Amino acid sequence: MNRIVIFGAGQAGKALYRMMHHQSQQVIAFGDNHMDLQGKEIDGIPVLSLLQVVALRPDHIYLAIVNREACQAVSEQLERAGYQGKISTVNAMREQLNLRLATVRLLAEEIQRRKVPGALAELGVYQGEFAAEVNRLFPDRTFYLFDTFEGFDQRDVKQEEEAQHSKAAVGDFGDTSVSAVLARMPHPEQIVVRQGHFPDSAQGMPEERYALVSLDADLYLPMYEGLRYFYPRMSPGGYLILHDYNSKQYKGAGEAVQAYCEEQGIYLFPLCDLHGTGIIVKGK
Ligand SMILES: C[S@@+](CC[C@H](N)C(=O)[O-])C[C@H]1O[C@@H](n2cnc3c(N)ncnc32)[C@H](O)[C@@H]1O
Repeated sequence: MNRIVIFGAGQAGKALYRMMHHQSQQVIAFGDNHMDLQGKEIDGIPVLSLLQVVALRPDHIYLAIVNREACQAVSEQLERAGYQGKISTVNAMREQLNLRLATVRLLAEEIQRRKVPGALAELGVYQGEFAAEVNRLFPDRTFYLFDTFEGFDQRDVKQEEEAQHSKAAVGDFGDTSVSAVLARMPHPEQIVVRQGHFPDSAQGMPEERYALVSLDADLYLPMYEGLRYFYPRMSPGGYLILHDYNSKQYKGAGEAVQAYCEEQGIYLFPLCDLHGTGIIVKGK
């Protein structure tokens, strides 16, 4: 049996561990350069330092590190420490297989099959990667794109700091523009851009029903306000996709979703993608 180490004991490492087939390969350890994780266990498997990992002489090391420079640096450290086995990265795997995109394609099939009426929306568009796929899947539906297009806002970041949800900074994700996002949309005629700080940017919106909404604003306040705005407006059978629900980096996103779900008595389905997405199906 292949002896495997998952290097990166954070969110991506845990997601990869959940996805693995454990009967044909054995995860003998996690590795991590963060000293506060070393010595801990995940599902009874120890988290080791890089040198301890190399000493185990695993057949295969999976680098579960999403940041590309950090991933490259660990790969070089492993080689310098004498590791000669196989190395794979979650980034390379993500380029081939993407669970989040696979899921939205299935949701689109369900929406079309059940003829769920309504428009589409995304809060938190950034450079439009996910939005472009949604737009491709629904060429005939109006698609509202909500973002500051200037990154995180002072008001939301202040609350993140006070509640110690994340280390978000004003202007993070600011390297985008409305014109660049529109240019990558396959059906730009369906796009309605709502630029500005949400929920202010929802003022003056036409009263719509929604079949599919993606909330990907990372932070507590916009995620909570997004649910407050969109959940009551969802068509029965429509889907709310809640990015970062299980995120370790943006803990406020999951807390906002949990708070709203508890208030409303609704439940979600957690997806085993690298970002920890949750999905709510609107009932009748
Ligand atoms: C992680 S990015 C979205 C990624 C995108 N969905 C994708 O597929 O690549 C988060 C986005 O949320 C936006 N955002 C966060 N809080 C917001 C708010 N209160 N109003 C509008 N946009 C907000 C940020 O500007 C940022 O572009």
